[in-house]
Amino acid sequence: MAQNRALSLTGDPAHPYVWVTSALKAASKLPADEVIVQITYSHINHKDRLALDPANKVIPAAAYPRIGGIDLAGVVAVSKHPMWPKGTPVLATGFDIGITRDGGFAEYCQLPIRYLVQLPDHLSAEQAMQMGTAGLTAGAALAEMFRNPRLVAKDSPLLITGGHSDVARIAAGILHHRGFTNVTVNTNHHWPAPSRPLAHAKYAAVLDTVGGDALSHLLPQMMPNGAVLAVGNLGEGRLDTSIFPFILRGVRLIGIDSVHLPISDRAEIWQLLATNLAPQPFPPHTTIPFAELPNALRSQVPTPLTAVQIAH
Ligand SMILES: NC(=O)c1ccc[n+]([C@@H]2O[C@H](COP(=O)([O-])OP(=O)(O)OC[C@H]3O[C@@H](n4cnc5c(N)ncnc54)[C@H](OP(=O)(O)O)[C@@H]3O)[C@@H](O)[C@H]2O)c1
Repeated sequence: MAQNRALSLTGDPAHPYVWVTSALKAASKLPADEVIVQITYSHINHKDRLALDPANKVIPAAAYPRIGGIDLAGVVAVSKHPMWPKGTPVLATGFDIGITRDGGFAEYCQLPIRYLVQLPDHLSAEQAMQMGTAGLTAGAALAEMFRNPRLVAKDSPLLITGGHSDVARIAAGILHHRGFTNVTVNTNHHWPAPSRPLAHAKYAAVLDTVGGDALSHLLPQMMPNGAVLAVGNLGEGRLDTSIFPFILRGVRLIGIDSVHLPISDRAEIWQLLATNLAPQPFPPHTTIPFAELPNALRSQVPTPLTAVQIAH
């Protein structure tokens, strides 16, 4: 019987992970609407790092020990489903993967077919996992922005916050590929609190990964009918605002949630990430072997866009 080697998160911050090996479930015991994926690549996500410490509440305390990894790509290894036959290249991100269901830091993973996205033709599993959930999130946010014709003038003043994050790096690459010429990438960690409900109107659209003071500071600076794509909380979860940017400038605050994104939207966005919304040039990225995953997860200086090679 095939064995599954995996990195299990313990829930003990002093010893946060342990390598485990278990027997793979027999094909006869697999439900008809689930498959076993042989993983070739995973990705190190912001959430995967936070999940090392239960105090961050990414994984509920009762759900440890848990095989981590919210993102994975590979091929269907065991399936009874005609739409997802053995050998189909797939990827899966978000939902409860690596949170309350075992995830991608493993050689194999059992998943419901409703989680699966077929790997697009022009994207390798390695490239997909260099982007991971961060890529899906950047793609979902910008696809939302591109739906508004008033925001898509190539010289519209656009701002990306948390500029060193994976989401921001990928978003900047996508906007560069699409020919946007007036994009500011901001890496500030500290933002002044807003002094007035409305300030000088500077930005047509903001992709914000910081939240807290950044989002509070930027809402009064939005141009009429501008849009803020609220993606993350690298800073804080709090938001200090007034009603005035919304009722006097028609500003739209649009939340992006890649975890619960409908599967049809995921398939479309991954297809776009492989083609029209491919970040170009592709931001600095790296691929590490599976054995180096523990050190990379605990690194105080995370490398951007990191794929984990599980198998060839
Ligand atoms: N809505 C969704 O579905 C979704 C999906 C994915 C991620 N997110 C969120 O989006 C954010 C970015 O995620 P990610 O995976 O791209 O992160 P990441 O790659 O892990 O980015 C971490 C980097 O962000 C920078 N940073 C840390 N704190 C910051 C702060 N207060 N202000 C500005 N920059 C800060 C740091 O670089 P420097 O120290 O060099 O600046 C850090 O190395 C996170 O809040 C994450 O939870 C949301």
